[in-house]
Amino acid sequence: MMDDKQDHERLKTELWGLSFKNPVMPASGSFASGREYGEYLDLNCLGAVITKGVAPIPWRGNPAPRVAETYGGMLNSVGLQNSGLEVFKREDLPFLEDYDTRVGVNVVGKSVEEYVEVVKGLRGHAVDFFEVNISCPNVKEGGVAFGVDPDMANLVTEKVKKVADKPVIMKLSPNVTDIVAIGKACEEGGADGLSLINTLMGMKIDIKTGKPLLGNVFGGLSGPAIKPVALRMVYQLYPHVKIPIIGIGGIRTWQDALEFIMAGASGVQVGTANFQNPRVMIEIIEGLDSYLKEENIGSIREITGISHQSVNR
Ligand SMILES: Cc1cc2nc3c(=O)[nH]c(=O)nc-3n(C[C@H](O)[C@H](O)[C@H](O)COP(=O)(O)O)c2cc1C
Repeated sequence: MMDDKQDHERLKTELWGLSFKNPVMPASGSFASGREYGEYLDLNCLGAVITKGVAPIPWRGNPAPRVAETYGGMLNSVGLQNSGLEVFKREDLPFLEDYDTRVGVNVVGKSVEEYVEVVKGLRGHAVDFFEVNISCPNVKEGGVAFGVDPDMANLVTEKVKKVADKPVIMKLSPNVTDIVAIGKACEEGGADGLSLINTLMGMKIDIKTGKPLLGNVFGGLSGPAIKPVALRMVYQLYPHVKIPIIGIGGIRTWQDALEFIMAGASGVQVGTANFQNPRVMIEIIEGLDSYLKEENIGSIREITGISHQSVNR
């Protein structure tokens, strides 16, 4: 199991001047910092490890129950529980340093200052890039997520970019009317890349009690059920921005990953599927490599965004 292949010439990817072994990485929150998955796959085989969200101080998260099954996916209202920046620096970063893979730190905050604090606190550390989750509720603005307002998304990007010593990608929320406006606002703020999508807002009712099932009432929907929405958003945004896009949402097979790449994604993240099959990312990497070989395509870069070429509008 541990001798999974690390080098796939055709899958080599370059983003923000950094080389990546392949474009496949875990989605934040589905993989912690990878320690628990080490039993099932060699972390050196991944394009990158994206960590769980890191806040300046520990967050306790939301009341239980925090997860519920749905058709083709799941709802979670974990509420970005995390141990905070200091524990992350002491325990998670040294663990990841032992691996030859890129490290993307997912950053969460309840105010602009909190995002800035995390990114500042990680200056000079073994981090390759930051992924800023702007789906968090902005406490100062009354609980509205930063990612649903172009001006706020632009502001967070600008402030984080000012203090970051590594590339910054902004992770977008799908709970918006116009994803293009948010993506462009982040690009104008100086973002180096965009990742999308985070979870879609949903809920479930317990028919025995007649009450909402999740302790937090609402939760985020993820898994195969959201893939068409995620793919549509990547496809929609691609022609409007110059910075690379990382596609996320319901990816479970190499064919799913390929759809996102064809829609314009330079990389893909796998979330909920890891819970069902901890080796799913290895299967996706191998599947993409075999596809490229069979189709005689020299590099995955050749097919990024090709779905746009065949559309007559
Ligand atoms: C249990 C759970 C925890 C998550 N935690 C985070 C997080 O800390 N930060 C973040 O940006 N996204 C988080 N997400 C969202 C995922 O990274 C991803 O964007 C979303 O689940 C869609 O991808 P998927 O359908 O492949 O799961 C979480 C998702 C799940 C299911």
